[in-house]
Amino acid sequence: MKALILAGGKGTRLRPLTYAMAKQLVPVANKPILYYAMDSLYQAGIRDFGVIISPETGKDVEESLQVWLKPDTRITYILQIEPAGLAHAVKIARHYLGDDDFIMYLGDNLINADLGSHIADFKKAGYHASILLKQVSNPSSFGVAELDACGQVRQLVEKPKVPKSDLALVGVYLFTHHIFEAIANIQPSWRGELEITDAIQRMIEDGRMVHSRVHEGWWLDTGKKDDLLAANTVVLGEYAQARIQGEVDAASSLRGAVQVGAGSVLKNVQVSGPAMIGENCYLENTQIGPYTSLGNGCRLIDCRVENSVLLEECVIESVPGKIEQSLLGKGCRIIKSPLSQQSHKYLLADHSEIEVL
Ligand code: DAU
Repeated sequence: MKALILAGGKGTRLRPLTYAMAKQLVPVANKPILYYAMDSLYQAGIRDFGVIISPETGKDVEESLQVWLKPDTRITYILQIEPAGLAHAVKIARHYLGDDDFIMYLGDNLINADLGSHIADFKKAGYHASILLKQVSNPSSFGVAELDACGQVRQLVEKPKVPKSDLALVGVYLFTHHIFEAIANIQPSWRGELEITDAIQRMIEDGRMVHSRVHEGWWLDTGKKDDLLAANTVVLGEYAQARIQGEVDAASSLRGAVQVGAGSVLKNVQVSGPAMIGENCYLENTQIGPYTSLGNGCRLIDCRVENSVLLEECVIESVPGKIEQSLLGKGCRIIKSPLSQQSHKYLLADHSEIEVL
C-alpha cells in the first residue's frame, strides 16, 4: 500500500510562525509534526510515500524529509500549485497512486493510532474507503459524520454550522481507486476547495462500502498556537524520558522526565519534567518546565519558562517574571530592556502577538 501525505497548504492559522516555515515542520516535543505521521506509517509497514508540497514551503519539506528518509523508503514529491482542497491533492496525485489502494494522512495531524491494524482490516473486509472518527467538543471546526443506528456512515458534512453529531473526521483515510471517480463528480465547496468529505459522501451515494472506525487514542489539533502548546504537553507527557547527554552542574536539579541534548550546558538550572532541552543549549540561573521544549542552540539566562515551545537558537536573558504558554519561532530574542522600567521595546513581524500585564 502507498501513503499520500498532505504537506501543502498555507498554514494561515499558525502565523507568524508559518511565514517562515511549513506548518507541518513546526516541532512538537522537538520533532517536526510531519515526522510523527511518517513514523507511524513506517511502523505500519508503508515504504512508498507520496508527499503533497506547496511552492512556498515544498523545498523545506523535502530537505526535512531527506533527514527522516530510511534506506528502504521511497518518497515522491507532488507539487500542488494552489491549496485547492484535500480532494484536489488526491486528484493531482493520480499519476503517482495509479490504481493502488492508499492511506491518506494529513501532515498537520498528530494521532496515536495503530495504523497497521486499520490497514489490515481494510484489506480483509474489501471496503472501498475507510475513515477514522473521533468525538470532539467543537465539531463545527471539522468534517462531521452522522452514523445510522447500525453504525454505518449516513452522511458526511464539512464544517457544518449545525453539526448532526460530535464525531469529527480525523485526518487519516484509506481509499481504493474508486475515490478518483467520486472526486470527478464533486464541485468546489463554499470555501472554494474540492473537499475530500464531499468525495467520500459521493462514494456513499454511489453505493460504495464506506467504513468508519471510532478512534480511541488521542488526536491532537496543531492548528493554532494554544492547540500546539496543548499538543506539546500531551506528546511530552507520552514520549519524554529522563536522558542526559549534556553537562549538568551540581547546583542544577532535574525532576521527572527531562531530556538534555548533547553539547548542552546547564549551570544552576532547575528543570521540572516532562521537558526537552535540545542540543548545544546554554542555560544558567534558570527554571524550566514542566511541559516545555527548547530547540537546539537556545540560550536562557536568569529567567523562568513554563509550558512553552521555543524553536532553535532562541535567546532569553534577564527577563523578570515567568514566560508561559509561549511559542517562539527560530532565533527569537527576549532580553531585559536598557530603557526605563516602564518601557518596552519590540521588533515584531506581521501577526506577532504579545500579552503584557
Ligand atoms: O484535521 C482534520 C480535518 O482536516 C478534517 O476533520 C476535515 O474534514 C478536513 O477537511 C481537514 O480540515 P482542515 O480545514 O483542518 O484542513 P487544512 O486546510 O488544515 O488541511 C489539512 C492538511 O492538508 C494540512 O497539512 C495542509 C494540507 N493541505 C491542505 C489543502 C487545503 C494540502 O496539502 N493541500 C490543500 O489543498
